[in-house]
This record gives sequence, structure tokens and C-alpha cells, in this order.
Amino acid sequence: MIRFFGGKGGVGKTTMAAAYALSQARNGHRTLVVSTDPAHSLGDALATPIRDEPAEVTSGLWAAEISGERQAKRRVAEITEDARHAVPLEVLPAVERHLARAAQAPGTLESALLDRLTELVEGLGDRWDRVVVDSAPTGHMLRLLTLPELLTPWIEGLARQREQASGLDRLVAGMLGDARDEPDPLLERLHARRARMEWMRERLAADARVHLVLVPEYLPLAETLRAADTLVEGGMRLAAVIVNRVLPAEETGVLARRRAQQQEVLARVRERFDGVGVIEVPLLAGALTGLGELRTLADLLDRAGMDS
Ligand SMILES: Nc1ncnc2c1ncn2[C@@H]1O[C@H](COP(=O)(O)OP(=O)(O)OP(=O)(O)O)[C@@H](O)[C@H]1O
Ligand SMILES: [Mg+2]
Repeated sequence: MIRFFGGKGGVGKTTMAAAYALSQARNGHRTLVVSTDPAHSLGDALATPIRDEPAEVTSGLWAAEISGERQAKRRVAEITEDARHAVPLEVLPAVERHLARAAQAPGTLESALLDRLTELVEGLGDRWDRVVVDSAPTGHMLRLLTLPELLTPWIEGLARQREQASGLDRLVAGMLGDARDEPDPLLERLHARRARMEWMRERLAADARVHLVLVPEYLPLAETLRAADTLVEGGMRLAAVIVNRVLPAEETGVLARRRAQQQEVLARVRERFDGVGVIEVPLLAGALTGLGELRTLADLLDRAGMDS
């Protein structure tokens, strides 16, 4: 099972993803929580440094912070290494130029991020029972999840360039009187990667759901409604919507008026998301960092029936 937490900047995605992951781990599910946000505040929420490679932060809970940039660099290095063995020396500079260009193409960082996420999701069922993804703000996550063409341009581009380059190889080999027709290991590797991305897309469609998080105000509501439509159109399924920082009933003055507005927005949220469920999280006094405080929030999510 894969759960994404998405929503506008600062609404509480990281906090909710961390608390939910903790609640899953406590219930005996081996859980990996992954941050795809370049700001990487998951480490702050869990009050522990987090790296690209998953590490266990408490019993049954692993955490990782992944980056598209790092993954793209890693892939370029790998493919350059492959190319060094697979193509004649003269062709290598051209391949390297192509790679550098592909690494800067629009969509590459998102694809690379998804590539890394795919590696981690491949551990589902084996290393983990749950993967919880703390996403970057909405727009970014939506692109990542719903635009199939973003999944592959990086690989397609590389494969195309490789096909051209291997045509060139053959030409060169032919000129040198050595026309072989051997399988191309580099091209095979690229095709395997494309197959993996397709596997991931199917996996997401079958196994992933998105918790949209918002604060109960009108602008975030409008954005959440749009995000929900885009996700559903893109074939993603929604899970319970989390309305965060709900003011308590005992407020007076400005806060009482604010609360009245929040209640109006909440009514709209309930209307629209009745089917997937709505979970209210009150405005809390604590700093919400560290496992101790997250446990309190995890209790609250459990009581609210986050998983039912
Ligand atoms: N219910 C709450 N009550 C009080 N503070 C909260 C609550 N939920 C989250 N916070 C605090 O709000 C701040 C922002 O939360 P968080 O980092 O989880 O948001 P985010 O959506 O991940 O932000 P970003 O878009 O920057 O990644 C944090 O300091 C967090 O501790
Ligand atoms: Mg965050």
C-alpha cells in the first residue's frame, strides 16, 4: 500500500505523513516514509537526520529523503560508465554531450525523482508493507503522479540518442570492416528502465491513494477541489482528506469569527469528500517535532479512523 500526502505549502503534509507512518509502524506494518520535497523537513518532524538511503528511525519505521537531482546525477554517471564499455572511444564525447543535454531537459528531475521512488516502492512486500510519501506542494506532486509523459521522456530521449549512436557505431564498424550485429547492452538497460517506469505507473494506479491536506480556508479549499479533480482525472484514487489546524469551539473575538469561517469551509469539504472521508485535526499547541509529539498526533489519526 502506498499513500501520498499532498497539498499547498505549509498545510501540514510532512507532519501528517510522519504521524500516519508512525501509526502504521505501531500497528505492526513495516513502514517507509519518504520525503520528495527538496526542502526536506521530514528530518525536522522526526527530529533525526534523514538520508537518501532508508534508515530505521524507530521500531518498524524507516525514513528516507530523496532528490531528483541526486538521482539524475547517479543515472548519468551509470549510463556514462555503460557507454564507456559499449561504444567506441571516438563516439563517447557525443554520447556524453547527449547525456548532459538530456539531464537538463524539462521534466527530467521529476522523472528522476519518480525513478528513485520506484526503486523504493520495489521494496514493498519485501522490505516494507507500507510506503508513505510526503510530497512537495501540490502542483509538483500532481505532475509527478498524473502526467504519464513525464514518466518516460528522460529514458525515451536517452534510448533514441543511443539508437542513433549505435547506428553510428555500426556505420563506423562497417567502415572499419567489422560489421557485427550484437545486442546493445546500453540500449537494453534503457529499455528495462522504461519497463520499470511502466510497472510503477500500474502499481500507482492499483495500490496508491492520496491524502489531500488543507487548512480550512477558502483559497486552500479552491485549490484542493482542483487538485482532487486533476488527480482523479489522472487515474489516482483519493483517501481521507485531512483538514488541519481547526480552531477549537471555545474561541472568542477574532478567533471565533475565524472559526465560523472554518466551519463553513469544513461543511463544503464534507460535502465534496463525503465518499473518501474527512478527518479534522485541531490546531495544536505543541511544536510537533520528535517521535513523542508525533505519537499524540498518531493517536488522534487512529481515533479519527484514518485507515477505515
Ligand atoms: N495541527 C497543527 N497544529 C499546530 N501546528 C501544526 C499543525 N500541523 C502542522 N503544524 C506545524 O506547521 C508547520 C508546517 O507543517 P509541515 O511542515 O508539516 O507542513 P508542509 O505542508 O509539509 O509544509 P511544506 O509545504 O513547506 O513542506 C510545522 O511547524 C508544523 O509543526
Ligand atoms: Mg513538508
